[in-house]
Amino acid sequence: MTLTTHNTFPSVAELTSTFADWLGELVASKDSFSIALSGGRTPIFIFDYLVANYRDKIEWQKIKFYWGDERCVSPEDAESNYRAAMEHLLLPLGIPAANIFRIQGEDDPEDEALRYAQVLRDTLPIVNGVPKLDLVLLGMGADGHTASIFPNRLDLLASARVCEAVTHPESGQSRVTITMQVINRAERVVFLVTGADKTEKVKLITGGKQNAKLFPATYVNPSSGQLYWLFDQAANPKP
Ligand code: 6PG
Repeated sequence: MTLTTHNTFPSVAELTSTFADWLGELVASKDSFSIALSGGRTPIFIFDYLVANYRDKIEWQKIKFYWGDERCVSPEDAESNYRAAMEHLLLPLGIPAANIFRIQGEDDPEDEALRYAQVLRDTLPIVNGVPKLDLVLLGMGADGHTASIFPNRLDLLASARVCEAVTHPESGQSRVTITMQVINRAERVVFLVTGADKTEKVKLITGGKQNAKLFPATYVNPSSGQLYWLFDQAANPKP
């Protein structure tokens, strides 16, 4: 299964099955694999689809699970990316706790940014001083943010840290996020972008328009060159 840079699917189900086939082949070729999960709504459908259709088609026990970002809430909170992944993917698949490395959203954001950075350093290979993930999954907000790097914080693009504590520009919610340098040092990055609310930013970013530089998602450009955008029809309608 090969992916091109921009892949558009008629439905989220077809997007997910293509992604899952690609992931399954990739994981089968490795002894172990590390994935940073994205948050928000899109992954929940994808997680449910994977559990329903790919439980026995992917070697899940090889995978170590991380997060690209987390809301600073308790792990039981409805807003928690960890809770969503546990309920919809990790518990149903029986992923062992030893393979789950959550961001502790209940703790002080700055302290947790430091702690999680150390978790990444301690459990992932370090390449040129940066923890290297095999795969980072990203979503994109309607404002062009990705992970929890928001348009009002383009200064974070130059962060030399592994994780940063930030606040959501509208809700003021505290977040912990991996930085762009960690994203761009990953071996592979896959954007999972769905919904008509993304269409405008998708067109600007994939079209290389000048004002795409206002949006953090534009700056995802892994040095490995392995960047794949997966859109549903709503997010990237045919011209
Ligand atoms: C989060 C995410 C965030 C998300 C985008 C897209 O914690 O909210 O990590 O970056 O991926 O906001 O979210 P949807 O897929 O729900 O539109």
